[in-house]
Amino acid sequence: MKRFPLEAIEKASRKKLRDLQLARLKWSLKRAYERVPHYKKKFDAAGVKPRDLKTLADLSKFPFTAKADLRDTYPFGMFAVPMDKVVRIHASSGTTGKPTVVGYTKKDIDTWSHLMARSMRAAGARPGDKVHNAYGYGLFTGGLGAHYGAERLGLATIPVSGGMTERQVQLIRDFKPEIIMVTPSYMLAIADEMERQGFDPKKSSLRIGIFGAEPWTDELRKQIEKRISLQAIDLYGLSEVMGPGVAAECIETKDGPTIWEDHFYPEIVDPVTGEVLPDGEQGELVFTSLTKEALPVIRYRTRDLTRLLPGTARTMRRMARITGRSDDMLIIRGVNLFPSQIEELILKQGLSPHYVLELSKQGPLDHLTVLVETEDRTAAGKLQHDIKSTIGVSAEVKAVAAGTIERSIGKAKRVIDKRPT
Ligand code: DLL
Repeated sequence: MKRFPLEAIEKASRKKLRDLQLARLKWSLKRAYERVPHYKKKFDAAGVKPRDLKTLADLSKFPFTAKADLRDTYPFGMFAVPMDKVVRIHASSGTTGKPTVVGYTKKDIDTWSHLMARSMRAAGARPGDKVHNAYGYGLFTGGLGAHYGAERLGLATIPVSGGMTERQVQLIRDFKPEIIMVTPSYMLAIADEMERQGFDPKKSSLRIGIFGAEPWTDELRKQIEKRISLQAIDLYGLSEVMGPGVAAECIETKDGPTIWEDHFYPEIVDPVTGEVLPDGEQGELVFTSLTKEALPVIRYRTRDLTRLLPGTARTMRRMARITGRSDDMLIIRGVNLFPSQIEELILKQGLSPHYVLELSKQGPLDHLTVLVETEDRTAAGKLQHDIKSTIGVSAEVKAVAAGTIERSIGKAKRVIDKRPT
C-alpha cells in the first residue's frame, strides 16, 4: 500500500525539537516586539525584553495575549507586516461584539497548507484518496484551511462546504470519497440524511472522518465509528493561532491530537492565576507562534481546557481531548458543569446524540433542562438520575420527538441561555 512519508522533524529527538523551538521563539518575540506597537507596550509594561528569553521556561515572564487584545486593535492593529504582504484575511464571528480578524502572508499560507497536509497524513490519508470537505468555506478558517492542506497532499479535493445536506449525501454516494472533513455534529446530520434516503451509512465509501472545530467526546467517537464504519480522527485548531491543523491525531494511536510543536509552543496554565502548570496537569492551553509572519501570537490564551501529554506516534507532545472551554462552563446551583459531561451520559444511555441544554430561572435559582430526542421515557428518566448521581446537578430531562432539535451545519450550539440578563 502506498503511503506518504513522514517528515524528519516528526521523528526528531526532543533535544533537537527544543533547540529549534528556542531559536524560533527568540525570533518570534523579537519580531512581535519590534513590529507590533501593542506587544511593545505590553512587554514594556511587564518589564520584559525579547532578549530576556534565554531558555524555553523564560517564556513565563512574558505577558499573555487574549481575544480582547485582538478586539482592542480591531481590525488590523496586531498585524506585523504591511498590507502589501498580506494575502488572506479570515475572521471569526464570535458570539458578541466585533469579529476577531486574522491575517496571513504568502509564507503563512504555505505553512498552514503544509501543516494541514501533515495533519491529514497523520489521520491516515493515502495517495489516491478523495476528500469530501464539508467544513464551511468563507471567513471561517475550516473550509479553506482543510482545502489547501488536502490539495498540498495531492488529494482529489471536493470543496462542498456546509449545508444542503441532501446534496452532501448525493455527492458522497456518487463520488465515493474515502475521507470526509466536517464537524462531528454535522456528520451526524449527514448520517441521518443517509438513513432517510434509505442508504446505510456503513456501506458508504468513507474510510476516515477528520472531525473538529467543536468539542466532542470519546463516546461520540465510538458511536460515529460504529454507525458509519469509519475511523474518526480528532483535528484541532483555532483561527487566532492559524486555523485547523495546529494539532492532529495520528491514526496509529488515536490518543489525542499531536501538537505541531515545531510551529506552535504550547503551555498549560492555571486559568485563574495564570501560573504555568507541569505537563499532565489540567488547565488552559496557551500557544506562542514560532514561525508566523502576519499575526504573531505570544502566549495566546485559547480558553480551551486540556492537558499536555508525552508524544507517542511522534516525538511531539499531544493534548488530551478538550473537556470544554472555560467560557462554556455552566455553573448550576454552585456545581460546575461542561456540556461534554452531559453528552457522555446521553450516549452511554444509548440515546440520540442530538441534544441541547436550556438554562432558565425558577425563582432565584438556575434551572437546567436537557432536551434529548427519544421516545423512550424510561431512558430519559434514567438519564436524569445519572446526571444527578454522577455530576451532582438536578436537571430536568425532556424527551422530545426525533428531528425537533435544530441541526447545525457547522459548529453545534449546545447551550441556550434563557435566563434574563
Ligand atoms: O474551529 C478551526 C478548525 C476548523 C479546527 C476545522 C478544526 C477543524 P475557530 O472558529 O477559531 O477555529 O474556533 C476555535 O474551536 O478554541 C476550540 O474551542 C474549538 N475546537 C476546535 N477544534 C476542536 C477540537 C476552528 N478538535 C475553537 N476539539 C477552539 C474541541 C475544538 N474543540
